[in-house]
Amino acid sequence: MGCAVIYVDEKRGRFHLQGRGYSYCLQLDEEGRLLNLHWGGRIPDADLSQLLSFYWEGASFDLRYGRLPLELPTPGAGYYGTGALSAVNPNGDSILCLQYKGYTLTAGKPALPGLPASYVESPDEAQTLTLLLEDELLGLRVRLMYTVFANYDVLARSMAVENAGKAPLELTCMLSASVPLYGCDYDLLHLKGGWGRERAPQRVPLNQAISRVESRRGASGHEQNPFLAVLEKSATEFQGRVWGQTLVYSGSFLAEAAVNNFGHTRLSIGLHPDMCHWRLAPGESFQTPEALLVYSDQGLNGMSQAFHALIRQRVCRGYWRDRQRPVLINNWEGTYFDFTEEKLLAIAEKARDIGVELFVLDDGWFGKRNTDTCSLGDWVVNLDKLPGGIRGLSEKMHGLGLLFGLWFEPEMVSPDSDLYRAHPDWCLHAKDRVRTQARHQLILDLSRQDVQDYVIQAVASVLERDGVDYVKWDMNRNMTEPFSALLPAEGQLETQHRYMLGLYRVLETLTARFPKVLFESCSGGGGRFDCGLLYYMPQTWTSDDTDANERLQIQYGTSIVYPPAAMGAHVSAVPNHQTGRIASFQMRGNVALAGNFGFELDLTALPQQELDQAKEQVLAIKSLRDTLQKGVFTRLESPFEGNFAAWQFLSQDGADLLFCAYQRLVQPNPLSHRIRLRGLEPEACYRTEDGQSYSGGRLMEVGLPIPLPKEDFSSYILRLHRS
Ligand code: DGJ
Repeated sequence: MGCAVIYVDEKRGRFHLQGRGYSYCLQLDEEGRLLNLHWGGRIPDADLSQLLSFYWEGASFDLRYGRLPLELPTPGAGYYGTGALSAVNPNGDSILCLQYKGYTLTAGKPALPGLPASYVESPDEAQTLTLLLEDELLGLRVRLMYTVFANYDVLARSMAVENAGKAPLELTCMLSASVPLYGCDYDLLHLKGGWGRERAPQRVPLNQAISRVESRRGASGHEQNPFLAVLEKSATEFQGRVWGQTLVYSGSFLAEAAVNNFGHTRLSIGLHPDMCHWRLAPGESFQTPEALLVYSDQGLNGMSQAFHALIRQRVCRGYWRDRQRPVLINNWEGTYFDFTEEKLLAIAEKARDIGVELFVLDDGWFGKRNTDTCSLGDWVVNLDKLPGGIRGLSEKMHGLGLLFGLWFEPEMVSPDSDLYRAHPDWCLHAKDRVRTQARHQLILDLSRQDVQDYVIQAVASVLERDGVDYVKWDMNRNMTEPFSALLPAEGQLETQHRYMLGLYRVLETLTARFPKVLFESCSGGGGRFDCGLLYYMPQTWTSDDTDANERLQIQYGTSIVYPPAAMGAHVSAVPNHQTGRIASFQMRGNVALAGNFGFELDLTALPQQELDQAKEQVLAIKSLRDTLQKGVFTRLESPFEGNFAAWQFLSQDGADLLFCAYQRLVQPNPLSHRIRLRGLEPEACYRTEDGQSYSGGRLMEVGLPIPLPKEDFSSYILRLHRS
């Protein structure tokens, strides 16, 4: 475990989770309640008792309970904030009095039943502490699970709730983490957005109020991301204390930063309590999703780099996790629904000529789907468009030396489909209510096993038969009437979470059955960009907005939590289809290289000069792929704050650096502008491809001037190698 370790002091009732760069200190009080004394910078495992006294400063006795830094706050006995756990019992009250009963400390990290979660590959990578708490009156047992990783600055936290009593209970709130922080002089940071403008960082001062970000949509959503951080007011991208949390989950969620009247802050995250109640019969258990907590004293970049490393290596899984991702071409913006096999092959030939490795056929290949009004659910090829079927097309693509990928939207059904006509009760709906359509479609009820099995079989039969190497798994609307025909009235509020468990079962089954297929998730662009889906699909389509200038912001904001290797980024045509803006081919390529690179345009319509540029871009990407996918990504200059954006990728061994700077609008008589690089060895010498050399110290302290042309939306890329 190296320098990460969990200390247990049974006598004093203390648990000190000491990660590489943080300490998370728990203490039992004299009544067996679990308190959190410190989450922040690493401290020695000395006597921690002094910490508790900080919370008592000036407290009068009757306010004592509200002032306690509870690790698992529950309602009913003087705690007035959002409880981390609440349950209605047969008496009708919702009082929970949880007392510590014991602990276990194990090497490694157990999987969470039915849910995605961070993982280890060998037991020496982590230690897991499980604390058992119990409400003896109800027979309710709670297991809090904490994992400290040897190689990652992330603490994983989740909770399992067991009904060991004799009567059924209804869980009404089950958060994954709820952590008190001393003081409240902080800013709050979250990622806001909408379709086409996902994950823009928003930083606001915290005040004595509850600040919430949430989704009730049955998807993590475009509007907010399951992420929330608090920062010292002086914290920047490079320095200062930051506490961040994200959730390994893809459905409705709640994240909160609440400041109480004692001037302390509570950070929490988990299932949205309004969208998930759960009946717990005697003998049954409920497992929450996992929260990932990061403390950084290296500002926002420090927090992001900790998330990136864990997400890339211990949330993403499988064959493609560490492999170089193929450069792809997707036909969506090139043809939309209007394609023939001939047209696709003509694009594919051009793609092959410029070095593309994967052809992806997007929406419109099945049923009668020439518009978005029909056929979802009928995953049978349209032979008018593709006379040789999917198999015929994939053979031709393989013949060209390309991998072949296919779009699905498996969670959906069009009312105009054979599937809906055969099974009108298979969609989410409420009895006797209108079934609200969005994009002319309804959502299949994946809380039902028969529907899950249908989806597995429908996708698997195409993958088995037709030689598909990649799947784009789309999901283009959020839930309305999120209820199920199979659940009783009192279980209807379970539907959304049962749906997610069903979706995860479908994905687990398909990814296990087709381990070499590369899955990429998508939801109207980046409407479901979260760690839950990254566990099954190591890359996500970042946004339907492919405009290079917009993408600077979207990719910059996405990188607050997610690594570049998780983001799909494509060069598309100009004028851009979403904004009408024109950016040079070079700019479009230089923005797209900071993700899983691809094209999304009709290559047969490109002039030779741009095809040549495209070929060069592909060549460059291939030679940089390891650094781009596995290197340390650092944000240098924010497109939200000025006219420039800049970031760098530093290879794992520190020998290769790619510096990328972008200018949005040309300014007359511009101010001189230098950007300082980060993380280099001051004494080492770094050489550019044209033979210039700089010391690391100079690059970091003096910085690089940016020779940008007099052209709106221009870019500058510099490759440096340590000699
Ligand atoms: C939404 C996706 O984000 C697009 O890339 C495309 O796949 C369309 N759906 C197809 O309907």
